[in-house]
Amino acid sequence: MSRIAYVNGQYVPHKEASVHIEDRGYQFADGVYEVIPIIAGKMIDADGHLDRLWRSMNELRIEEPMKRRPMELVMREVLRKNGVETGLIYMQVTRGVAPRDHPFPADAFPSLVMTAKKTSLEKSARKAEEGVAVVTVPDIRWQRCDIKSVSLLPNILAKQEAVEKGAYEAFQVDEDGMVTEGSSTNAWIVDQDGTLITRPTNNSILAGITRAALLDLLEKNKIKFELRAFSKEELLNAREVFLTSSSSYVQPVIKVDDVVIGNGKPGSIATNLRTVFKEYMEN
Ligand code: PDD
Repeated sequence: MSRIAYVNGQYVPHKEASVHIEDRGYQFADGVYEVIPIIAGKMIDADGHLDRLWRSMNELRIEEPMKRRPMELVMREVLRKNGVETGLIYMQVTRGVAPRDHPFPADAFPSLVMTAKKTSLEKSARKAEEGVAVVTVPDIRWQRCDIKSVSLLPNILAKQEAVEKGAYEAFQVDEDGMVTEGSSTNAWIVDQDGTLITRPTNNSILAGITRAALLDLLEKNKIKFELRAFSKEELLNAREVFLTSSSSYVQPVIKVDDVVIGNGKPGSIATNLRTVFKEYMEN
């Protein structure tokens, strides 16, 4: 089955899918996006992702390219046309095509692009069984990290540093020595007393949908947690470390920079939470 993309009202072969060179997403990174996990053919937390997409558009005053209902239909159609049972939907809205000029164009129509791809749950499970390494990098991003903008240069530089050091992710650390989040994930620790800690949402991190779903599950299962910023020192001294995102689900971390976390194996809390989260997604 060849891949199909949705581009501004049309379903086109993936390899021919394109937008104009003066799309403001291309020229100014003037756009927002979402990544939605698909398990057993179903979108996980689609409402949360669409709420966040609308919030991102509102914060940047990008017009909606279509109403929410028809957008959901397009999402389903993209999934169907690509035969995705397990994978991800990527969707991006930009301010549209207009002659290059910094202020908002008067009459551009927002662009909407969607793709879907298959991913392997087995590969992800293997990674979770082994655990992954993380490096720390300075957080050099802007002050509106709550907006899921396609303007991701600091994030890709951080991820590249991780890759070059043989790590899976880079956790960003602010000027006060506090961990903000990963380059494309939210960061969590379990301290030596067994308390789960993750940073509260404000403009310094993205309000992860996986993070929110996991917090709900913790509450339902009466597992205590603290919503507070934690320092790089706490990270390095944690009993367990893990990260969450729509593409990584719950992923145990076994090494941060040169420091081995716990006994160098995925921690029991992170591993259990991954199982709880998997059940949540499957049901
Ligand atoms: N990234 N923080 C950042 C900076 C992110 O880019 C992401 C998601 C998250 C986790 O959010 P969620 O749980 O809603 O996926 C946190 C996606 C997966 C990406 O850019 O590919």
